Amino acid sequence: MSPAAARTWRQSPARVRIQRDYGAGFRWLELDLPADFEAPVAGQFVQLLLPPPSPVLLPRPMSVAGAVRRGRALTLGFLYAPVGTGTRALTALEPGAGVSVTGPLGHGYPLERPGTPVLVAGGRGVAPLLMAADALAKRRRAVEFVFGARTKSLLAGLADARERVTRRGGRLHVATDDGSRGFHGNVVELLEKLAPKLPPPVVVHACGPHPMLSAVARWATARGAEAWLAMESVMACGTGVCRGCPLPRSGEARDRVLAEGAASGAAALKGNPDWAMCCTDGPVFEARDLDWERVE
Ligand SMILES: Cc1cc2nc3c(=O)[nH]c(=O)nc-3n(C[C@H](O)[C@H](O)[C@H](O)COP(=O)(O)OP(=O)(O)OC[C@H]3O[C@@H](n4cnc5c(N)ncnc54)[C@H](O)[C@@H]3O)c2cc1C
Ligand code: FES
Repeated sequence: MSPAAARTWRQSPARVRIQRDYGAGFRWLELDLPADFEAPVAGQFVQLLLPPPSPVLLPRPMSVAGAVRRGRALTLGFLYAPVGTGTRALTALEPGAGVSVTGPLGHGYPLERPGTPVLVAGGRGVAPLLMAADALAKRRRAVEFVFGARTKSLLAGLADARERVTRRGGRLHVATDDGSRGFHGNVVELLEKLAPKLPPPVVVHACGPHPMLSAVARWATARGAEAWLAMESVMACGTGVCRGCPLPRSGEARDRVLAEGAASGAAALKGNPDWAMCCTDGPVFEARDLDWERVE
């Protein structure tokens, strides 16, 4: 589990500030929240509940891509893909429309880990890493940002990533599977070339499709590097209640959960040792905490 502290969540009304096309079929959404809504850290997420009449009953989980304090309000930014009923309905919300936001939820990236931070984004997985780049820039830490997609037209967010990364002397590295932009290959192949040139230890923070995260996890484990991976699962509550977002723990993590349960005398409160909940144990997990053979 990510050591970045879990924080207290709340449900708040929010208003759409900006809703616009972001390229490659993605959307950029900004919501204004009351000032007392706790600012999320990079890697945390919120649950967005559409206003009635809504075509979906449950809220939809969304990573936070940006958080800015504006006077008495907090503005959160989201980069999303309209893939189904809920996210397509989200695209119809005009500035001023109301949404209910629950958060901040889950554990974020442990950006304070010593070493060279390497942010690895695949496709829309760039969302939480834009925020991570901002946070590292505020801490005056240069980052290496590896951004990959199948082809150059799918690199939505490239300009935002470049702007954030170069602010503190960091570097952006682009990879496309078809070679249409940057390195010809995937992000793990690029990581393999880049990592030996960086001051050790390399600490990877990644987000993207699960097959990409699985490859990053295997790469990091084989080289003894840390990798923190933002996972997704279909979610209902987002707060650990419904037990509907399981991810398979590794044997090492299972033993640790059992030992912690035995030591505290409250094994039942530690949950199921075989399954982590993506919403409360994650969504950011260290590579060694999940069983990548069984991650879907
Ligand atoms: C922690 C977390 C952070 C997320 N951050 C982002 C983000 O920053 N930007 C973004 O665009 N999306 C993000 N997602 C995914 C987003 O929540 C789903 O795409 C959304 O819930 C789909 O809702 P829908 O009603 O549009 O689709 P539905 O009609 O419910 O489903 C459409 C299709 O999407 C699949 N689906 C639903 N939820 C997920 C999921 N979580 N992962 C993969 N497939 C899913 C369904 O199985 C179905 O095939 C995140 C998910 C999680 C768990
Ligand atoms: S979504 Fe309900 S426990 Fe994770």
